[in-house]
Amino acid sequence: MHDATPGYVPAVLEANRKLVVAIDGPAASGKSSTAQWVAEKLGFRHVDSGALYRAITAARLRAGGSPDEWSEPSVLAVARQVSLRPVERGFVALIRGENADGEIRGGEVTREVSRVARMQSVRDWVNAEVRRAASGHDVVVDGRDIGTVVFPDAQLKIFLVADPWERAKRRLVQRLSRRPTDAEIAEETERLVQRDARDATQTVQARDAVLIDTTYLTQSEQVERIVALARGVTSRRGATSPVDGEADSR
Ligand code: DC
Repeated sequence: MHDATPGYVPAVLEANRKLVVAIDGPAASGKSSTAQWVAEKLGFRHVDSGALYRAITAARLRAGGSPDEWSEPSVLAVARQVSLRPVERGFVALIRGENADGEIRGGEVTREVSRVARMQSVRDWVNAEVRRAASGHDVVVDGRDIGTVVFPDAQLKIFLVADPWERAKRRLVQRLSRRPTDAEIAEETERLVQRDARDATQTVQARDAVLIDTTYLTQSEQVERIVALARGVTSRRGATSPVDGEADSR
């Protein structure tokens, strides 16, 4: 039930309701980079919810101990060291007030983050932070449950999917800056499929989401589709949002 979601505000009670574009999908489906680019084109802010789960995981790793033995209260306790700093067009995740971007994208965090993301009290904390960051702005928010749990009333919901082989290839090209071999792609595909399985419960396509399969799309084609859908939403609402007037910067 929507009104049972912590921090959820029914749309009718919101005075000057801002636009929310929710982008969900599995790992390496290009959500964050697409969301960032869409936000730039629309003149919206981008909120990357996965960065908060990653920052909490990094903070918990710093505190030490075997991840198998991390208790939920010990993870929630370090969440308080994590915050979002507004920057132009978005936010960066901080740990104890410092930028930790390199650390939160590292292999150790990527391996352990799913266990943190399965803890309900941590999810509630992250959801409240994301809503706080988004409040008062037109936003593009990416994650796994944005269209279902965090912003069930988002005016536009996108669910991005892509074939695991293609996702693995894209990720490797980004990481290695060269063409990966088939053996490398096969190994990465296996890792991704395992991550998909670990994150499956949280990764939910809203019933009113637009499904976009990006397997055969370039990133700029994905971005254009989402921007076109967002412009459709604003024109139907008769909104005078930056979506209607602003010139594309890319
Ligand atoms: O999108 P990402 O790889 O940065 O996400 C990191 C982890 O956080 C991954 O295990 C999925 C989880 N996550 C989540 O459960 N819900 C979200 N809204 C965003 C991320």
